Amino acid sequence: MERILVTGGAGFIGSNFIAMALTENPECRIINLDKLTYAGNLENLTEYAENPNYTFIKGDICDGPFVEKIIEEYGIEAIINFAAESHVDRSITGPKIFIETNVTGTLTLLQAARDKKIKRFIQVSTDEVYGSLGATGKFTENTSLSPNSPYSASKAAADHLVHAFAHTWNLPANITRCSNNYGRYQFPEKMIPLMINNALNNKDLPVYGDGQQVRDWLYVYDHCTAIWAVLTKAKPGDTYNIGGCNEKSNMEVVRLILEKLDKPESLIKHVTDRPGHDRRYAIDASKIITELGWEPSVTFEQGMEKTIQWYLNNRRWLENVVSGDYQKYYDQMYANR
Ligand code: NAD
Ligand code: DAU
Repeated sequence: MERILVTGGAGFIGSNFIAMALTENPECRIINLDKLTYAGNLENLTEYAENPNYTFIKGDICDGPFVEKIIEEYGIEAIINFAAESHVDRSITGPKIFIETNVTGTLTLLQAARDKKIKRFIQVSTDEVYGSLGATGKFTENTSLSPNSPYSASKAAADHLVHAFAHTWNLPANITRCSNNYGRYQFPEKMIPLMINNALNNKDLPVYGDGQQVRDWLYVYDHCTAIWAVLTKAKPGDTYNIGGCNEKSNMEVVRLILEKLDKPESLIKHVTDRPGHDRRYAIDASKIITELGWEPSVTFEQGMEKTIQWYLNNRRWLENVVSGDYQKYYDQMYANR
């Protein structure tokens, strides 16, 4: 499949995916449809702006006629849906936009994909749809969905819609469920870039609760190659978990960042916990590894080294992102913690 509509391609994972696809698969043509919300940043793709195989279109995935027009005009064969409201804390303070973008937006894309006979639809979902784990066990593709936050509930609703379209209209679709990503171009509302940014500016590092919550981290490039493997090798209808087997507590990650930046642990500040905070996520990725031959390219330590170095080398990107409304967001989100 050569002509791909990527939605949300100006965000963190979408922009990394486009860069990987254009660099490693020169035969593909990418159309990037993005609304450019606070999380969308065309600076992430400056290098590709003039690439003849890349086109950016500003627009909303909830706009059905516009999506259909793009599919027709560019002869789109596959859709990869990255577009979403993606931050759990924002879904707690304002859930409505999560339903609009993540549920209605996905429904709109599915209808267009069905009506225009798209050859493959990939829904980029999340391990958060499975809910929270106790001290042991891992999520498999058969774990039942039990989302706990408005964000994960909206992503689970979208997954159910994808399944319904595949079942009812034979839409050739796949769902991918990945664990926490980290890497270049991540908006500093998310834990790793937020902690890096604060440490660089000698500001407190706000750790929610006891900081013993566990996330299973994956370097963003490895998530992108996994999605490419699903696009090119998976049978329609299959769901794939994606993860790198890197369970770390938040305190471990924060301490590593401080150590790498040579900053004191006295910057760590335990603040009020996130309401309904999921305690532990862990992914069993054996299906994608054995069936599609995918594997991560770096260890957590190597990925974090590259990531921290990237933020150090790209202080201007970080400064641009945190100028504007970011400080207002930060003050509101952290004022009462
Ligand atoms: P992000 O917030 O960085 O980017 C989201 C992008 O979607 C932005 O460019 C934004 O402008 C765009 N967008 C939002 N609403 C839109 C709309 N209505 N129409 C068109 N574009 C719109 O998110 P991310 O971290 O890159 O996540 C991408 C996808 O991957 C999401 O679906 C998310 O649920 C999923 N995911 C993320 C992670 C993670 O750790 N970040 C892990 C697993 C899955
Ligand atoms: O698991 C996949 C999910 O990972 C994706 O679906 C989401 O889009 C993505 O945002 C991410 O969700 P999390 O809530 O796990 O990521 P976040 O970076 O917000 O938080 C990671 C952990 O760090 C979590 O336990 C909360 C904690 N945290 C976060 C922030 C922002 C803090 O302790 N302090 C903070 O300031």
